[in-house]
Amino acid sequence: MCGIIACRTIQPAVEYLCTGLRRLEYRGYDSVGVALQTATAEVAHLRTVERIGALDELVRGWSGAPLNGVGIGHTRWATHGLVSEENAHPHADCNRRIFVAHNGIILNADQLRDELTRSGHRIATAVDSEVLSHLIEDALSEHRDLFKAVQTGLTRVQGTWAIAVLERGTGRIVVASNGSPLLVAHSAHGVFAASDIAAIVDWTDEFQVLGDGDVVELVDGGQWVRAEADSVPLISRRCSWQGRDADLNGYSDFMAKEINEQPAAACRVIDDLGTSIDSGELWTDRGLGTFDRLKIIGCGTSMNAGLVIGNVVRRLGRIPVTCTIASEAADDIPETGQLTLAISQSGETADVLQALTSDAIGGAPLVALTNNQHSSLARRADAVLNCDAGPEIGVAATKTFVCQVIAGAALMISGLSATGRIDRSAAARLTDDLRRLPEKLAAALNVAQCRVPPLIEELSDCAGFIFIAKGSGLPYAAEGALKLKELTYRWAEHYPAGELKHGPLALIGAGTPVVVVDNGDTRLRANMAEIAARGGQLLTIGSADSAIDVASDPSAAWGPLEATVPLQVLARTLALSLGHDVDKPRNLAKSVTVQ
Ligand code: M6R
Repeated sequence: MCGIIACRTIQPAVEYLCTGLRRLEYRGYDSVGVALQTATAEVAHLRTVERIGALDELVRGWSGAPLNGVGIGHTRWATHGLVSEENAHPHADCNRRIFVAHNGIILNADQLRDELTRSGHRIATAVDSEVLSHLIEDALSEHRDLFKAVQTGLTRVQGTWAIAVLERGTGRIVVASNGSPLLVAHSAHGVFAASDIAAIVDWTDEFQVLGDGDVVELVDGGQWVRAEADSVPLISRRCSWQGRDADLNGYSDFMAKEINEQPAAACRVIDDLGTSIDSGELWTDRGLGTFDRLKIIGCGTSMNAGLVIGNVVRRLGRIPVTCTIASEAADDIPETGQLTLAISQSGETADVLQALTSDAIGGAPLVALTNNQHSSLARRADAVLNCDAGPEIGVAATKTFVCQVIAGAALMISGLSATGRIDRSAAARLTDDLRRLPEKLAAALNVAQCRVPPLIEELSDCAGFIFIAKGSGLPYAAEGALKLKELTYRWAEHYPAGELKHGPLALIGAGTPVVVVDNGDTRLRANMAEIAARGGQLLTIGSADSAIDVASDPSAAWGPLEATVPLQVLARTLALSLGHDVDKPRNLAKSVTVQ
């Protein structure tokens, strides 16, 4: 949530900041701003509630002294305070000497605001982050050294932060982090800090991640002060993909690109993992052993992938599985013999990270399934499996879902084989089935692209949608409904088909669209008849006989994964027909780093 970039570069910083902010926009796009040093050591402070293109305009219109290679930038997802230019980051102190870009939440902002106001500071906004610039201003009057002032100012703060602080005059930049992601990278172009390597991957692929409490000066050979004396040593990490992987490459939007990339991404995952599944090595190589129950933690689409993976474990291993939405995990009861699987494509979801601190999860071995093997989640886990989807820029998760399901199923099949719950030949047969998925996803894509668009005109006036399924189809119905509501802003709810008659059937009248994710369970027929009898408009997706037949195999342990593709295409096509930005749906962000 919110993206930060800061740099000290040989060429003008603005070029790097604008490119980086464009790449970080997926983290939040309510407003965007920069603070740039000029050749006369002043600061150009430019902010807009429009998208990054408008910031480019502001920069072009800058008529002050030339801009040099020092600057910080921020793209915002509003938490405190309306979306307005005044509330956009970076925030300045009273003397406009300190400029701060912040990601995170300051929990004691109200108290600090009162204290600062009483001591004579002029607080201009309702944004929690603004107090940081005034706290540092206070500390600077005492220390006269930005680095020390940042350290001192932060001692008064409760909450989470990734910050970049620019000092007018000296042009010094100090960054710090606590509970919000931030990395630093040195390259031939200069020194960078960013929320995510995606922002700077055009210039470097090697980086170091700040730990909680770290403070770093952005300069070659600059100070890096670690919070704890016994902190883990700094590790240089590498990004496995390149800048062009995160470009549109001819597609009209990232969601289209990412839907289309699914067969290839699935193929990459299964090619990479396939040889170590049946032997159990995928499991044992990660130091994993026996377990008696599985707890799955995640949010949104990642939880839907978790539901699929949970079904695989229950069905094949007869092992009890609990799936808990991360923000509700604190009240869970820990169980003996538990293994925890935390799923998060970003690996930075605050609800997931917080859940891992709860007693319910605390002591159990933790496996992370993530698309970011350098993330906070990955660093905290005992074992990590990269779902290897490549960069996903659209806010709506698409290829990460498919890759989470395949990688997660592969890991659990390997675990069941390693622990003797299924025999190796069964694991080998399941692996063969997994190997067929890329082709099935490619076929589903063709079917979806032909069959979905003609349905859209009739659906565009529908105020609400119901998705139903049974058993292994249910997580896909949940995912279809989630995609539809986040992109079209229409109501979309999912139910187990058998539940309709216990209440939701009252929602169905003439023309109510009901999407049926058909996993081949014949009991769905009766539920569909009940809907048809009330005038509901049925759209079946899945196994043979479905209106959108994607050849789902009713016996697949992971259910009708192929049905995901038409469900995604349905949500995207309807959203586009309604004039929505499918990559940046309203109110949402991709990496949700606040609770
Ligand atoms: O990064 P994560 O996988 O932890 O994100 C969890 C959810 O915020 C995410 O899956 C969200 O539901 C999707 N963007 C919806 O498409």
